[in-house]
Amino acid sequence: MNVGLQARKFDAIVVGAGGSGLRAALELARAGLRVAVLSKVFPTRSHTVAAQGGIAAPLGNSSEDHWHWHMYDTVKGSDYLGDQDAIEYMCRRATEVVIELEHMGMPFDRLDNGRIYQRPFGGHTQDYGSAKMAMRACAAADRTGHAMLHTLYQQNVKARTQFFVEWMALDLIRDAEGAVLGVVALEMETGEAMILQAKATILATGGAGRIFAASTNAFINTGDGLGMVARAGLPLEDMEFWQFHPTGVAGAGVLITEGVRGEGGYLLNKDGERFMERYAPNAKDLASRDVVSRAMATEIKEGRGCGPEGDHVLLKLDHLGPEVINLRLPGIREIAIKFANADPIKDPIPVVPTAHYQMGGIPANHLGQVVAPRGGDPEVPVPGLYAVGECSCVSVHGANRLGTNSLLDLLVFGKAGGEQAVADIRAMPAAHKDLPEDAAARPLARLARLDSASGGERVAEVGAELRKTMQAHCSVFRFPDMLIEGVSKVKQIAARAERMSIQDKSKVFNTARIEALELDNLVETALATIVSAEARQESRGAQARADFPERDDKNWIKHTLWYKEGNRLEYKPVHLKPMSVETFEPKVRTY
Ligand code: FUM
Repeated sequence: MNVGLQARKFDAIVVGAGGSGLRAALELARAGLRVAVLSKVFPTRSHTVAAQGGIAAPLGNSSEDHWHWHMYDTVKGSDYLGDQDAIEYMCRRATEVVIELEHMGMPFDRLDNGRIYQRPFGGHTQDYGSAKMAMRACAAADRTGHAMLHTLYQQNVKARTQFFVEWMALDLIRDAEGAVLGVVALEMETGEAMILQAKATILATGGAGRIFAASTNAFINTGDGLGMVARAGLPLEDMEFWQFHPTGVAGAGVLITEGVRGEGGYLLNKDGERFMERYAPNAKDLASRDVVSRAMATEIKEGRGCGPEGDHVLLKLDHLGPEVINLRLPGIREIAIKFANADPIKDPIPVVPTAHYQMGGIPANHLGQVVAPRGGDPEVPVPGLYAVGECSCVSVHGANRLGTNSLLDLLVFGKAGGEQAVADIRAMPAAHKDLPEDAAARPLARLARLDSASGGERVAEVGAELRKTMQAHCSVFRFPDMLIEGVSKVKQIAARAERMSIQDKSKVFNTARIEALELDNLVETALATIVSAEARQESRGAQARADFPERDDKNWIKHTLWYKEGNRLEYKPVHLKPMSVETFEPKVRTY
């Protein structure tokens, strides 16, 4: 079944050229290995470019800070579902990876003393949750992700990483022992498939926020790594937990950074009330994101929303003055003018909670190795397979991520995954393993189905139905009847997706074909999400169930594992024991 497919060999393949993929690739290329990075878009257009507010690291440049405070905030923010060993690892390595980035040339904003500028962000506190916020977010104005992506791309060019631009990975190649030997990928320009064989395959495909109708995510965020893993028979972890960012531009979904509130902006309801004071008396507008999003949704639901439809709240920042806005938040001003017709120097910005980040993903350990249950051990590394960044679930974010911990996650686990892959490759024989006979069978069958199908439903229609269903049935607040109905609807949509067809059968830059292939991945992601959400009978972090409003630590401190085959669920324990310090025991989470 590999007939006709050309195969190329590399030491490592990285799928995805966002922050985590580029950081991993850099480690491999600098080690002198042959590394190929595949990306659907030019690397500096990857979705990391849209990250705005900053990278969390306890540098202590603007306020007193400590990695252990950061760890506490992250565990608490995760609503005690995060793995505390991995969280300790991330917070301890934060300063190292940020300083390293600075030395690569990252254009951070500067304080008068020349040190990196840091601003406060939601849920980041001093002294284990005191009312004093920590200034922990290292920022390049409100374009931190943009600056980071360009810095990492330039370093990769220097290190001679090979880029396959406008290539889409379709499926993993696994041998009879379960080892991953590379991917089958499609070159968009020619429409031809090719085998890319590697000793290490690193998935860095980012998020899948496009399963929702209102999303801050780019159109390319279609869960390609998640789909590949699910089809390869491996589980997806904690997919019920999706973060809704409090401030997406109403009606457009474009992100307005939490850095606005970090700089002193705040939210108002239709009565001009600063309502976060009621929901989070200490942290107010800088409470954790799940708390702020729920407060906003409640204000809107209870009739205190703004505008003729009462369907949004307002983000006020004019009091910061033009100087601060133009210096620290220039991109936000541009976005607000373009997408909301509001100049924040004088007008508030209409905002709503908007799907932003997946806390769950491909189960991975803190070394970036993909893990799966085997022989009674819930976390056995899958040989040759790694996952880093948003597509992975390490799990450092548990049930809710703190703002700016995503860029940190990209750097720490991108680097760690790269380091581990270098060590693993060096321990392997020089020759690549033989490919199985049917290496390309699944992706070729998917392509053949699209090439031969006629008269089926249109991809755009099925995709729109999926997004509408997920938005209505599985967003900020979750209701039992809506979840049950949602599971059945998404199953029906999955069946419809198998019958869809494209009219344009040509090969060269056939974007309809790419969208159909992406929709397969969105469907896997959505099914995993809604099935896992329906089964978790508690409220924790981003999962807020009307029928189970409390967190249930007795029964639900456990990670969900969803398998495509039979839509089956399993559970595995949370790592409550950190690497070297005491456990942060679960307690009531207030801000
Ligand atoms: O609000 C923001 O700038 C987003 C940051 C994040 O998601 O970490």
